[in-house]
Amino acid sequence: MATIQRYLVFFGCLVDTPTIDKLRIEPKGALGVDQSTGRIIGRAAHDGVTSAIDYVHEWTGDSAVSGENIEVVSLAHGQFLMPGLIDTHTHAPQFTFLGIGHDLPLMDWLNKYTFKHESEFKDNQWARKMYTEVINRVVRNGVTFAAYYGTIHVEATCILAEVIRSVGQRAYVGKVCMDANSPDYYSESTAESLEDSKEFVRRILNAETANAHGDQQKGQHIPLIKPIITPRFVPSCTGECLAGLSELAHKHELPIQSHLCENPSEVDFAKSCFPDCTSYSSIYDKHGLLKQGTIMAHCVHMSDEDLRLIRATGAGISHCPNSNFSLASGTADVHRFLSEGIPVGLGTDVGGGYSPSIIDSMRMAAAANRTLLAYKRDRGDFLEGRSAAPLEFSELIFLATQGGAQVMGMRDNLGSLEAGKLFDAIVVDLDVPRSPVPSSTFTPAVIAFGEGSVDAWRLRLEQFVFLADDRNIARVFVNGRLIHSV
Ligand code: GUN
Ligand code: FE
Repeated sequence: MATIQRYLVFFGCLVDTPTIDKLRIEPKGALGVDQSTGRIIGRAAHDGVTSAIDYVHEWTGDSAVSGENIEVVSLAHGQFLMPGLIDTHTHAPQFTFLGIGHDLPLMDWLNKYTFKHESEFKDNQWARKMYTEVINRVVRNGVTFAAYYGTIHVEATCILAEVIRSVGQRAYVGKVCMDANSPDYYSESTAESLEDSKEFVRRILNAETANAHGDQQKGQHIPLIKPIITPRFVPSCTGECLAGLSELAHKHELPIQSHLCENPSEVDFAKSCFPDCTSYSSIYDKHGLLKQGTIMAHCVHMSDEDLRLIRATGAGISHCPNSNFSLASGTADVHRFLSEGIPVGLGTDVGGGYSPSIIDSMRMAAAANRTLLAYKRDRGDFLEGRSAAPLEFSELIFLATQGGAQVMGMRDNLGSLEAGKLFDAIVVDLDVPRSPVPSSTFTPAVIAFGEGSVDAWRLRLEQFVFLADDRNIARVFVNGRLIHSV
């Protein structure tokens, strides 16, 4: 069956952050999407006169496109379109004990709750039921792209990928590897870990190839789901396992994810497992696991050598402030990462963090940043330039979108609303019933600036970052397609 060419044209407020220091607000914008490629075909400041069909003709250079192939989406008052939120670090099986156990430090929390709950995913029926709830919940929160950890089980983690595929979200999905220092009821031999990882990669890559044909995707095909190589963290993997996983990642050009320098006891444990290595990062580096497209979560307790290696290899950092607060791991220094030019995105780290919302991550990142600033100031540090000022709300939006895209190795394809990029986006509605964001009529400064002006939108966006939740996510688009609406 031939695919019918369909275009979407949005009229309304467009918001994105092409770079960390640039918040772009187009109060009366127009933006077009080609649903057959999933890409944005053009954007403009709408003159109020040009019609959707004229825009499509201009952006495609094809005057044969007819009106019946175009769907017009007019955003209402209080609505805006922005890039989809990106969760660079989350554990799908840990939703089963969300909000529990935050009185324990990392290693005790893993042993008391995490491994037990993850081991339940040996049951495929349980996995399908739980993962269906999880993925729908994550999408309702406006997350268009996530890097998921599954469990050690190949079958359950393939089910996770199947569920994501049926919902239509973009994702990296990882089978977790644990062949050392793990409980008997939840561990694998080195051979099992490596063989199962190969099997998992093969199955996901095959499923995506089949899916691409079904969709008759053209041009440069970027699969919606990719396997991601996932050594849990240094203490749970032998050197042989780490080296084998690196080989697998390089062979198939796959991303890699793990945990790094999250908690002081964990750092000590990791270094005691590899006494020849001088830093936690050097253990991953020695085994070939640090590269562009490697996502290291937490990075709270980084030595200078740790930071140097992350920067030199091009790896990215997933900042997970809710988790770092909840497990009392510490406050990661985002300003330090940014000033080194290291890619930084946000992660929820469910269930170390209790919220599956990247909007929550934005404000938790603000809190972590302010806490650290106050601490440095009270300690008498000399602070200057950007590092002396709190992260602005627009920088938080950047971390949640373009920063995340960079960490996921997708900077050129995702993260902002530019012609040529893939259309992963959300429609935010600040004026829904019971909205946690007050109506614009209650905010005198918004009224003073004039409804719909750039300055008024700036204030509304700041309120979005600090107040909004899933009630404000009206529509979710991935690869040009609507995957959720209220
Ligand atoms: N380190 C190793 N495993 C985990 C995990 O599941 N969550 C967090 N936050 N840290 C980890
Ligand atoms: Fe984690």
